[in-house]
Amino acid sequence: MRTQVAIIGGGPAGLLLSHLLHLQGIDSVVLESRDRDYVEHRQRAGMLEQGTTDVLRESGAGERLDREGLVHHGLELRFGGAGHRVPLTDLTGRTVTVYAQTEIVKDLVARRLADGGDVRFEAEVVALDASAPSVTFRDGDRTRTLDCDYIAGCDGFHGVGRPAVPGLRTFEREYPFAWLGILADVPPSTDELIYAHHDRGFALHSLRSPQVSRLYLQVPPDEDIAAWPDARIWDELAARFATDDGWELREGPITDRSITPMRSFVAEPLRHDRLFLAGDAGHIVPPTGAKGLNLAVSDVTVLARAFAERYASGSHTLLDEYSDACLRRVWRAEHFSYWMTTLLHTDPAATGFERRLQRSHLDYVASSEAAKTSLAENYTGLPLT
Ligand code: FAD
Ligand code: DHB
Repeated sequence: MRTQVAIIGGGPAGLLLSHLLHLQGIDSVVLESRDRDYVEHRQRAGMLEQGTTDVLRESGAGERLDREGLVHHGLELRFGGAGHRVPLTDLTGRTVTVYAQTEIVKDLVARRLADGGDVRFEAEVVALDASAPSVTFRDGDRTRTLDCDYIAGCDGFHGVGRPAVPGLRTFEREYPFAWLGILADVPPSTDELIYAHHDRGFALHSLRSPQVSRLYLQVPPDEDIAAWPDARIWDELAARFATDDGWELREGPITDRSITPMRSFVAEPLRHDRLFLAGDAGHIVPPTGAKGLNLAVSDVTVLARAFAERYASGSHTLLDEYSDACLRRVWRAEHFSYWMTTLLHTDPAATGFERRLQRSHLDYVASSEAAKTSLAENYTGLPLT
């Protein structure tokens, strides 16, 4: 078997890369270890920067996004019993859109298959060679080899791409908390997202549709989900979102729940020989600020342009610049995610002094046009390059 670009991983990064390459007339094969149903239903991110929706729309994969995505112009920071709006669009001219990662993956799988693309599920890559480029993958009981010009490691944080880069430098930070996320069949209690800081811990009210709410709670990193029956989740959310003027949280049946650890991680460089890392394979952010999926989209947009240049003109310039170009954006998002996380979460080990500083910081962000503009600029996403 042979293709031009072998793509490991059929998450948003791998699928979008394959789609963007197809538009440039470049062949690829996507090898995904899980089955299609699993990949299409894994609950994860939901908030898209304008740059992300632009890429999906301009590449012809945005039809359902345009119909069903919910465009937002602001968000709320809530602490001390009161809300403080950050008017994202007034401050930046940009919007963000709520559209779940599951839906992007469904749209991209459908689009690749309709275009005759080669997307293989239950095809786990077990080995790769970045120099005489090839990947070896399981195909039922057999293993097969796919020869290629280049390999894109879009295989997430636990994949095989990153460990194949020799001499990699890594930068990491763990946080003393995790997120318990739920999906609930209940109309959202808010039109805009609420990021709440409370002594009991952080909480986030997001949504998926006018009928479905998505909510998150800060919990200890080693928390057992069995310790969180429905009533405890709703009571805790209500306590953390409570305001002095009696705001009410609507409750409904919980249809999905999971706990996500929080970490910051960057690998440098994002390239070795003919292997390129993109998305979570190369970097992880804590979810506060919703940057993970958006970074995966910006990485593969830059990578697709570099492959297009290479195949159209033979020039390697953009491929050679890929890692540095992406890492500049990655580090900005790393800083913003770290900043939002430490601003809003309650560190159980924080001293009284640190808690007072944190509250002062929140008061400042809520009251300063300059600070809100900085938050809004980063949240809505900085330009691609
Ligand atoms: P992934 O989506 O991880 O896709 C990688 C794919 O590679 C997977 O489908 C995997 O099965 C496949 N794979 C792995 N190894 C192999 C192999 N050897 N062979 C073949 N295939 C392989 N971001 C937010 O902004 N907000 C959130 O609320 C949020 N919640 C998250 C919750 C969880 C549990 C996780 C893990 C991430 C969350 N993120 C969130 C981050 C966001 O979802 C990711 O940044 C995004 O999925 C990155 O896309 P990706 O394609 O790079 O990686
Ligand atoms: C969502 C997740 C986030 O991490 C975030 O900051 C905003 C929204 C979500 O899943 O909707």
